Amino acid sequence: MKIKVGVNGYGTIGKRVAWAVMKQPDMELVGVVKRKPNWEVLSAVKKGIPVYTLEESVRDFERRGIDIEGTLDELLSKVDVIVDSTPGGVGKTYKEVYRKAEVKAIFQGGEKSDIAEVSFNSFVNYREALRKQFVRVVSCNTTGLVRIIHSLSEAGTIRKIRGVIVRRGADPKEIKKGPIDALILNPAKPPSHHTIDVKKVMGELDIITYAVVAPTTLAHLHYLLVEFKEPKNREEILKHISNNSRVVIVNGDLLKSTVEVRELAKDMGRPNGDVYENVIWEDSIWVNNKEVMLAYAVHQEAIVVPENIDAIRAVTGVIEDPQESIKITNNTLGIKGWI
Ligand SMILES: NC(=O)c1ccc[n+]([C@@H]2O[C@H](COP(=O)([O-])OP(=O)(O)OC[C@H]3O[C@@H](n4cnc5c(N)ncnc54)[C@H](OP(=O)(O)O)[C@@H]3O)[C@@H](O)[C@H]2O)c1
Repeated sequence: MKIKVGVNGYGTIGKRVAWAVMKQPDMELVGVVKRKPNWEVLSAVKKGIPVYTLEESVRDFERRGIDIEGTLDELLSKVDVIVDSTPGGVGKTYKEVYRKAEVKAIFQGGEKSDIAEVSFNSFVNYREALRKQFVRVVSCNTTGLVRIIHSLSEAGTIRKIRGVIVRRGADPKEIKKGPIDALILNPAKPPSHHTIDVKKVMGELDIITYAVVAPTTLAHLHYLLVEFKEPKNREEILKHISNNSRVVIVNGDLLKSTVEVRELAKDMGRPNGDVYENVIWEDSIWVNNKEVMLAYAVHQEAIVVPENIDAIRAVTGVIEDPQESIKITNNTLGIKGWI
């Protein structure tokens, strides 16, 4: 029996998760919920995905001549899991609705951590999320940080982590967001919220992150300084990073920017030019005794998609082994091997 999945909020994350669910051999996309009958719903209609809406929006869809399958409540009566990908802070208004419908829910990183029993990352705490009702997939930047810190922790005991996160100002579709011409300290006083979020997933760590918002839409860029308890060499660091099945390593002579990474992803047939992996510049890896520095890109619109898919399996408990779920997700999304 396939896991029946619904998606509430068909925006940047929701449409990608819906597409990824359709690629899974053990999942069925029952439908997606769109509140406004605007351009974003058209791709669902064209792909034949059943569209649901909120009770109060039914008339708006009828007026635009867009067929709907039913309301959110009707969708909830048909699914095992709902992926809530409504805007940050909106998800919490649905928690009681999901609870009443006895449906498991995956929330996104824009919600506060107390919305869920587990702040999730596939590599770190999949088993903790098994059969839970509410799980939160942490934000794009936190997912990127957690993957790298987890890989590095396999190389030895980490004493401390210091990071600078250059955040994209907006997603490409967001016409009312910026900055257009500024770098914004986010916030000036550290830590940025990512520090707290990493600890929600990984437990106590000596970590401090700064963040700055930049006028770009393509990806975030992180610089990390990690200090180990014991001296390290470059080969072992590279080995442990490459072992992570959602990290790709690129050459700085070939690819010098986030735009080249995204453009290559498009050229290689990735839908929307999506990059699910952390993209680490091999040349940026600097190792000096116990210190390691490196730089990597995080495609904000895509990196959390595989984690959402694994979280769906975890809450249903159909696959208990994280590596088994990760493997299926990676294979179906074509993760690694494209670059
Ligand atoms: N974008 C990113 O880079 C990114 C990365 C990682 C995590 N996240 C997190 O993922 C979540 C979703 O972000 P997003 O960027 O995908 O947002 P988005 O593009 O704005 O999409 C949100 C969707 O929710 C719908 N919606 C708005 N209010 C709603 C309501 N009251 N009930 C039901 N649906 C509603 C919107 O549809 P209407 O237009 O019809 O209202 C839209 O389809 C947030 O928690 C965010 O923090 C985002």
